[in-house]
Amino acid sequence: MQQAGPQSFDRVLSSMCTRPHPAAREAAERFLATNPGDPDTYRTVAALEREAVAGLGELTGLSEPHGYVASGGTEANLQAVRAARNLADAADPNVVAPESVHFSFQKAAEVLDVELRTVPVDADRRADPDAMAERIGSDTALVVGVAGTTEYGRVDPIPALADLAADAGARLHVDAAWGGFALPFTDHDWHFGHADVDTLTVDPHKFGQAAVPAGGFLASEATTLDALAVETPYLESTSQATLTGTRSGAGVASAAAALEELWPAGYRDAYERAQANAEWVADALADRGFDVVDPVLPLVAADLPASLFDALTERGWRLSRTARGELRLVCMPHVTRETLGAFCRDVDACREAN
Ligand SMILES: Cc1ncc(COP(=O)(O)O)c(C=O)c1O
Repeated sequence: MQQAGPQSFDRVLSSMCTRPHPAAREAAERFLATNPGDPDTYRTVAALEREAVAGLGELTGLSEPHGYVASGGTEANLQAVRAARNLADAADPNVVAPESVHFSFQKAAEVLDVELRTVPVDADRRADPDAMAERIGSDTALVVGVAGTTEYGRVDPIPALADLAADAGARLHVDAAWGGFALPFTDHDWHFGHADVDTLTVDPHKFGQAAVPAGGFLASEATTLDALAVETPYLESTSQATLTGTRSGAGVASAAAALEELWPAGYRDAYERAQANAEWVADALADRGFDVVDPVLPLVAADLPASLFDALTERGWRLSRTARGELRLVCMPHVTRETLGAFCRDVDACREAN
């Protein structure tokens, strides 16, 4: 079989993942043949997972975090819904979320057989607490807010959503899968320290610069993990709260290494560079006459014609679109100012060619 090399990140402007930090890559390779799903056998990686969870707790304002390194944001979000469903009194629990939630909540609702009520967002594309209040009822088990939306990088008003959840006797989950490694360096209120948050998703394999798969599921109370745990008769550990059984030790070790290497100064640096790049490319596209959605976090949306999008794709750029069809540029740590400069030159060249 011919050996294929991994794809270069040089022209990737569409991904929420990035090149792993060298220390994270090295740790992933070293722990490839370990399984944190069996923590009594694989004790070193189990200890690394405790370190990673402690690091994620520090990042999200939780001094005694409960949680684990999941396969990604999808699993973490599903587990948040599962915990809420398992802990709910209601016979027919529902989840209320802004329509900007990641599609993983659709999967969670389907797998767990709960109703997902999505609610239109406000003019700035953020969750609208008044509109959400109208859909929350006595059967609502979970209210969801997003801290760094997938399409526009918006941060929902988490404290207001926490109040809504508290009034309804529901739990609050924050999906900071992508935004969680950037938000500590902003003024947004988004984490356990800012509001009464029950569970939170924060993915090392996105802005955290760890290797895939490394998602993060955190809870403020041990009872959340208890609500997810099943007994594990053939393992020496007595129960398991994760969704998967055998898990990637590479992801866990990689997350621990990235956090050790980068928190907080390295992540601050990466965020500041990425944010400056996003603002630069937003201005560059606005100067060219496109409608641009300003980057609250390092993610820019701009209204480019489909023909231009296709021409840029032809030139090797890896791009993505919002549901409304806007170009969506994710300024991850691998995206440099030079890359964005080359991208803008190609925008000009493609327009001239037409
Ligand atoms: C806000 C948000 N939540 C969840 C996810 C799902 O994460 P994963 O693809 O790691 O399962 C994403 C993916 O981009 C996301 O942007």
